[in-house]
Amino acid sequence: MTCRTSLLWMCLLGAGLASGAAAQQAAEDAGAATKPAAMLDLRRQPAVSGDAQAGAGKAAVCAACHGAHGVAVAPNFPNLAGQSATYLYVQLKSFKGGQRSDAVMSGQAAALSDADMRDLASYYAAQAAKLPGRADVASRGAQLYHAGDPARGIPPCQGCHGPDGMGPRPHPSSAPQPPWASFPRLRGQSGQYLAHELHDFRSGMRAATSNAKVMQGVAATLDEADVQALSAYLDAL
Ligand code: HEC
Ligand code: HEC
Repeated sequence: MTCRTSLLWMCLLGAGLASGAAAQQAAEDAGAATKPAAMLDLRRQPAVSGDAQAGAGKAAVCAACHGAHGVAVAPNFPNLAGQSATYLYVQLKSFKGGQRSDAVMSGQAAALSDADMRDLASYYAAQAAKLPGRADVASRGAQLYHAGDPARGIPPCQGCHGPDGMGPRPHPSSAPQPPWASFPRLRGQSGQYLAHELHDFRSGMRAATSNAKVMQGVAATLDEADVQALSAYLDAL
């Protein structure tokens, strides 16, 4: 830029405005790329069914982390075996739609069609869940899970995840499902993974679906000792 000396202040102001506008445009462009995905309302999510056999073929790429039959190869990866098909489907859909994000899974889900997601969800739902462990029924985790801690506003987890951690049991029909039908099973899940998710709910990292919002509210009542106690209990359930 060339400027006449007498108008140096204008020149500087002009340059400042120009670079300010450029910076703002760049920020808007970056914002557009990382713009939060629209909230996904799952309250009327119909029950999901797919072709489990077709899903088995499509699951080959997932086995590296989630295991050949949905029991993960390491505790930082979630177990998918025996999980509700509807829950699995909505998670894949929200990884693809950007409501849930993860360095690995966002990329994995981007390549899946809606039919792929239904088939994969049906395949994993039909696999045998991790064998039950020996959960300590007298532990602080068990107490929180079954009775919560009303004085601190912690609700009993069993109210939504079932007394045995098996998740809700929606009626098996094509009639509209209750709004809680897409809630997950926790039994057979890795404690390390569950603790990671509780942190994600608490930080707001996982909060862009109607279900995640519910769980975000619950997680906000938990401190770190609660997270550890609950994860240890659930890991052995
Ligand atoms: C390289 C490892 C890796 C591969 C391959 C992989 N995943 Fe995942 N998956 C993960 C991780 C890590 C998470 C947890 C993400 C988080 O913390 O949000 C996850 C989470 C999930 C969840 C959510 C589970 C829950 O309980 O909420 C589903 C469903 C899932 N993966 C399905 C799949 C499918 C289907 C494939 C294959 C198309 C696949 N994954 C491939 C690592 C992997
Ligand atoms: C009012 C209902 C409700 C209560 C009570 C509740 N949850 Fe949840 N929970 C949910 C919903 C809904 C989801 C699914 C969130 C999503 O899809 O992102 C969920 C998901 C989770 C997940 C993630 C599972 C996965 O596979 O990624 C964990 C962990 C969890 N809940 C733990 C707990 C614990 C521990 C408690 C008790 C302190 C609890 N929940 C109480 C509704 C509830």
